[in-house]
Amino acid sequence: MGDTAKLILQDQEYELHVRVGTEGNRVIDISKLYAMTGHITLDDGFANTGGATSAITYIDGEQGILRYRGYRIEELAERCDFLEVAFLLIYGELPTAEQLEEFRQGIRRRTLLHEGMKDIFRGFPPDAHPMAILSSVVNALSIYCKDSLDPLDENQRQLAMYRLLAKMPTIAAFGYKQSVGQAFMYPQNHLDYCQNFLYMMFALPSERYHINPEHVEALNLLLILHADHGQNCSTSTVRMVGSSNVNLFSAVAAGINALWGQLHGGANEACINMLEQIVAEGGNIGKFIDRAKDPNDPFRLMGFGHRIYKNYDPRAKIIKAMADRLLSKQAATNPLFQVAQELEEVALKDPYFVDRKLYPNVDFYSGIIYRALGIPKNMFTVLFALGRLPGWIAHWREMHMSSSKRIHRPRQLYIGYPERPYVPIVKRSTEPPKEVSIQRPPQGVFPGGEFEL
Ligand code: CMC
Repeated sequence: MGDTAKLILQDQEYELHVRVGTEGNRVIDISKLYAMTGHITLDDGFANTGGATSAITYIDGEQGILRYRGYRIEELAERCDFLEVAFLLIYGELPTAEQLEEFRQGIRRRTLLHEGMKDIFRGFPPDAHPMAILSSVVNALSIYCKDSLDPLDENQRQLAMYRLLAKMPTIAAFGYKQSVGQAFMYPQNHLDYCQNFLYMMFALPSERYHINPEHVEALNLLLILHADHGQNCSTSTVRMVGSSNVNLFSAVAAGINALWGQLHGGANEACINMLEQIVAEGGNIGKFIDRAKDPNDPFRLMGFGHRIYKNYDPRAKIIKAMADRLLSKQAATNPLFQVAQELEEVALKDPYFVDRKLYPNVDFYSGIIYRALGIPKNMFTVLFALGRLPGWIAHWREMHMSSSKRIHRPRQLYIGYPERPYVPIVKRSTEPPKEVSIQRPPQGVFPGGEFEL
């Protein structure tokens, strides 16, 4: 293969540069395409589009390989703690002992929230989803941390990164405490990152709290495995929003919202719901497999399939082994884990899943571990967000440090009306075409009287 691709458009030939990374796909560089040809490309879902040049994470979806900054995920998961991996992702190298201590210290000293922020939590109703709370309060950090909002100033960038890494676990735990009506437990800075989070989640002011080391180990592992995954939906969102030069807190709040969806980070919660439903309905796995295969049924096997992995997700392998270890110590067998394993076995032999290369992904077994740690279901995606934070930060920083950074502004294939004359209101058709018919929202009874609160 040569270093150029030839494109023939209306009898005119153009040469496009083919770029080669250190590993992975060869890339046809179309950055000059519009200027050269007046044409753009179309790629719904960006399945064929490189959205960034990045040196952070390498994924080989065919082989089931994931590496952060060149290091195999299996090795990092076995040997590192989460903040060490966060340092690696953000700065590109594993830290020396001194660098790591400085990094830990910088984070430790910033775990508290401004006292005024407690009122924000108090304003949310008890049934507020923790992901909505997390994104709202992370965004609110931009109100309280005004001296770290400029993404073009390296000192402010550093401060914002430290603050976010330090405060996000506190925000996540306070959101949970608010939802269960318990006192906020302030961070304890003598604890490490994962211990501190479990303490803030589960300790009570009236009780002595014992931190289970196995739970710390499992949490550390899950955070590492979620820490980055290339140009996924939430990371691309952080890059997209960040490209307007908005502050880090607001860019990450946008990423949290993107993560919430069921096709992305929300799949772990959806997966446990599915496993619970299977157990509740007597363990009829065949019925759920049939539903997932039915093209007329929108149901999908949650925790299965991936845009990039066409092989077993390496993270799922590690998580499954951890679930096995953690749950083997429980006296009774865990019905959810049992059903999950049976479901996997059946799906991996079924031609529908085999032909489409659908394997368990990171979300298939992670919920089972969160469950064993006592994390409530609606907090699962919050845990994913805590894990993904170093990845979001690393990509945001990489983008701002790149000399080719531009605001993200895709074009489109327009399929609407060509120009047409304005129609005065009295002359408009009373039967508008379907696309613009207005559906009235259901009429509820408004507690505040005539107006909805
Ligand atoms: N169950 C049943 N069928 C599936 C599933 C599934 N979980 N996933 C994909 N398919 C089928 C799909 O119906 C399509 O079939 P056909 O070719 O007959 O139309 C084919 O496989 C290709 O699917 P796709 O939707 O074109 O694939 P995608 O790359 O756009 O979607 C995905 C990837 C992860 C959104 C999808 O596999 C899915 O919805 N999985 C379930 C949700 C999930 O587990 N999400 C977590 C992803 S990993 C963590 C993360 O990224 O946050």
